[in-house]
Amino acid sequence: MNSVLKNKNIVVGITGSIAAYKAVEIIRLLRKKEAIIYPVMTRAATYFVHPLTFQTLSSQRVTRKMFKEEKKEIPHLSLAKLADLLLIAPATANIIGKIANGIADDILTTTVLATRAPVVIAPAMNYRMFRNPIFQTNMNKLKTFGFKFIGPEKGVLASGEAEIGRMVDPPRIVKYLEKVMNSLNDFQGKSFLITAGPTREPLDEVRFFSNYSSGKMGYALAEEGISRGAKIILISGPTFLTPPAKAEFYLVESAKDMEKKVMDNFSKVDGVFMVAAVADYRPEKRREGKIKKDSQKELTIKLVQNPDILKELGERKKDKILIGFCAEVENIEEEAKKKLKEKNLDLIVANDITLEGAGFEEETNIVTLIDKNGKIEYLAKRSKREIAVKIWDKVKNLLEKDIS
Ligand code: C5P
Repeated sequence: MNSVLKNKNIVVGITGSIAAYKAVEIIRLLRKKEAIIYPVMTRAATYFVHPLTFQTLSSQRVTRKMFKEEKKEIPHLSLAKLADLLLIAPATANIIGKIANGIADDILTTTVLATRAPVVIAPAMNYRMFRNPIFQTNMNKLKTFGFKFIGPEKGVLASGEAEIGRMVDPPRIVKYLEKVMNSLNDFQGKSFLITAGPTREPLDEVRFFSNYSSGKMGYALAEEGISRGAKIILISGPTFLTPPAKAEFYLVESAKDMEKKVMDNFSKVDGVFMVAAVADYRPEKRREGKIKKDSQKELTIKLVQNPDILKELGERKKDKILIGFCAEVENIEEEAKKKLKEKNLDLIVANDITLEGAGFEEETNIVTLIDKNGKIEYLAKRSKREIAVKIWDKVKNLLEKDIS
């Protein structure tokens, strides 16, 4: 069977790490899959492996400089345009730091900054550098933007120590590239509605009840869905985030507003991710003006229940796919299973908000996925964008199962 990498243009960036010798094997394996390889080396990389090695293996000139008089040299932005996929292996802390900060001072960083192709990064470095919070911040920033990381893993490093920092072995990197390529546009032609953020339930003209939801999980799902070809309608409560440019975006305030917008758009989509932290209750009525403190010593506010939007969707879902989210403090699995059933969902994503690194305002999350067939998958702490990748993979799985 042909590999999904056949005839694909893959730019392989090689940076200055001893693991550069493993890039030789990566390129050999990619050529076996009939991919077209464009090697790009940083200056430091050329100290480890001679460019001729990559040139011979890939049957392509190795790009090293941004500006070159030689006629045959590829102009510096064309690599960014022709790439179906960009791999940096090995990737040093330096290159990751540069990319994370938008630096484009050589051909590789310029290509990364200019490309629309997915970028896969296979880091290799000493564990002290890997653990440095500066590096971790850079890596997490790139993950949030959708850059895909594979490794590093634990193993014997150049320093002789058995620690984290070793580049993942070439066959696994190639397999991962196949996976990434397979997931490109795998939601083309499908549309999904995503709700995100908190709702605001007005008390008077200046005050409201709300919650700590930041909207990050819902926005990450929207970004990931768009990158995989889905049409996304994003209905969001107020957040500090910038909506993805390609999403059809609606800003709403209260649960009632959100309910209306969701119901208006439900017929247009193949599925709904109900990520918003919808307030369960609202003040019975929104008072005119501003409640004054001197007119009363005590204030009693009557709250009434909001509609459960997701439950309503569950009642009319037919063959649409419905994904719910729940934030729990105990008995996560039990509670989540109960909601999955009660709301007639295909999938529920449960998070334990008592754990560090999970929940509302965090950059990361720790979740358990439970599907309608009772399959349970636990996802350890990772960035919200990486969780989004897993959730979309799961949705793809569920859609394929429904068809077969
Ligand atoms: O029942 P619980 O609020 O824990 O369920 C959470 C799920 O239900 C989330 O997906 C949330 O978006 C949705 N929900 C809703 N309408 C509400 C409350 C929650 O759609 N009023």
